[in-house]
Amino acid sequence: MKFLVTAGPTREPIDPVRYVSNRSSGKMGYAIAEAALDAGHDVILISGQVSLQPPRAAKLVSVSTSDEMFDAVHRDASKCDICVMCAAVADYKPASVSPTKIKKRSENVSLELIPTRDILDSLGHWHDRRFLVVGFAAETNDVEKNAARKLREKNCDIIIANDVSSAKSGMDSDVNEVTILFKNGERQKISRAQKKIIARELVKIFLNSATIMFDKKDVMISERS
Ligand code: PMT
Repeated sequence: MKFLVTAGPTREPIDPVRYVSNRSSGKMGYAIAEAALDAGHDVILISGQVSLQPPRAAKLVSVSTSDEMFDAVHRDASKCDICVMCAAVADYKPASVSPTKIKKRSENVSLELIPTRDILDSLGHWHDRRFLVVGFAAETNDVEKNAARKLREKNCDIIIANDVSSAKSGMDSDVNEVTILFKNGERQKISRAQKKIIARELVKIFLNSATIMFDKKDVMISERS
């Protein structure tokens, strides 16, 4: 099957030297890309700016802003079977970008932010889609409740609820602990483990769901069985 995986943060420019961003390291998304490749699948990895070595067999598309990520995802989504939106896309971007470096002044400065386009939502509501849509929900409170709301509102097939309240797991860490929420109401937990191990479990779950929901043949699994 063909995976499209987004990873890392987006950077929303304020001026030529400053931007709004977040702490995403890209580790979770890169681990999913690697696990899918290891299982014999094709991967398009659309990545924000991170300091990780991309898996060599992936087709890497490097982006910086949420708009670039939106366009890159839309270019390739319909060619894929499974779209995994693991990137930490900025929810807001500056209303305008100064063409020159904003000068330091003594008074307070306000930055007007406007909503970015929601990539996951656009995939979930894609007309007549034939690909599985997987979202991630990074939450610091009411983790599963908020994730369930995002699953419903963005019309995903699966959402991975991710507690990012602690520096010891989740964002910018080698380990994670997730709950998988399925559209049919089922839930499954994966307890604290290295992201590489969690990624292997997630890939199996995504393949199984895509096979069932979209009647896709999982070539690698059927060839081996
Ligand atoms: O990169 P790491 O350091 O390994 O950390 C991994 C992670 C914590 C970033 C990852 O596991 C994770 O949870 N990614 C989602 C982060 C996020 O933006 O969550 P959210 O709850 O704000 O967004 C929900 C979903 O909507 C996400 O799938 C996100 O990609 C998507 N989204 C959000 C805003 C937007 N404009 N477009 C989107 O597609």
